[in-house]
Amino acid sequence: MKKYIIGNWKMNPSTFAEADRLASRIQMLNRGSAEVVLCPPVYFLAQLSKKFPQLFWGAQDCFWEASGAYTGEISSEYIRTHGAAFVLLGHSERRMYLEESDEMVAKKLRHVLKRKLTPVLCVGGGEGLREPEQCLAAARIQLTTAVRGIPGKILAGGRIIIAYEPTWAIGTGRPATSKHIAAAASLIREQISSHYGTIIADGTPVLYGGSVNASIVPKLKKKSNLQGYLVGGASLNALEFSKIIELS
Ligand code: PGA
Repeated sequence: MKKYIIGNWKMNPSTFAEADRLASRIQMLNRGSAEVVLCPPVYFLAQLSKKFPQLFWGAQDCFWEASGAYTGEISSEYIRTHGAAFVLLGHSERRMYLEESDEMVAKKLRHVLKRKLTPVLCVGGGEGLREPEQCLAAARIQLTTAVRGIPGKILAGGRIIIAYEPTWAIGTGRPATSKHIAAAASLIREQISSHYGTIIADGTPVLYGGSVNASIVPKLKKKSNLQGYLVGGASLNALEFSKIIELS
């Protein structure tokens, strides 16, 4: 299965000149075979995707309606027509700071799939999730709520990417253990399999995110059944990010 290394720049960097420099260095240093997707702040997306068409681009969120009176929201049409094919949905920080609910994420997921964008559904994160077991339990509910009612044929062939991102590992410099990540990847596959069968489950890429750095990649590669990483902080450092790509 294809591997994905997705860089989530969050609300960084603050100027286009810095974003341009970062993308250019990542492109120059990229020697891996994985699909590299960068998710910059949406206000840099149009210019960056035009300037670096060899990279894949994504948005960090997308609203569930195509257009209308929704102040401040981002439309799938904008994302699609400005060079992005991927959208992060349900990121832990949106669940925590903006109280994005499982139901809201479910609506976004349906819309994004309809608009032929590839959703990267983040599970395992949210307010008050501090223990590894809590994150696994939340991931199960978040995943089930998000896909409920979506026909299997729509999700077949890797149309959806799932990223397991436990809150306590995000931005802390303390990634989850390979054992925990392997358990999360199995749980996610079992969940998908119980709804849609093993063919769809086996065809769905599962990524890990939470303080990913180059030093943990070789260990995770051996011990967990992952198809890549969702990288936050380390994706702002071109050299470190390129090492992650190369080692994956
Ligand atoms: P981090 O962020 O790599 O900085 O922990 C990951 C994410 O939030 O996607």
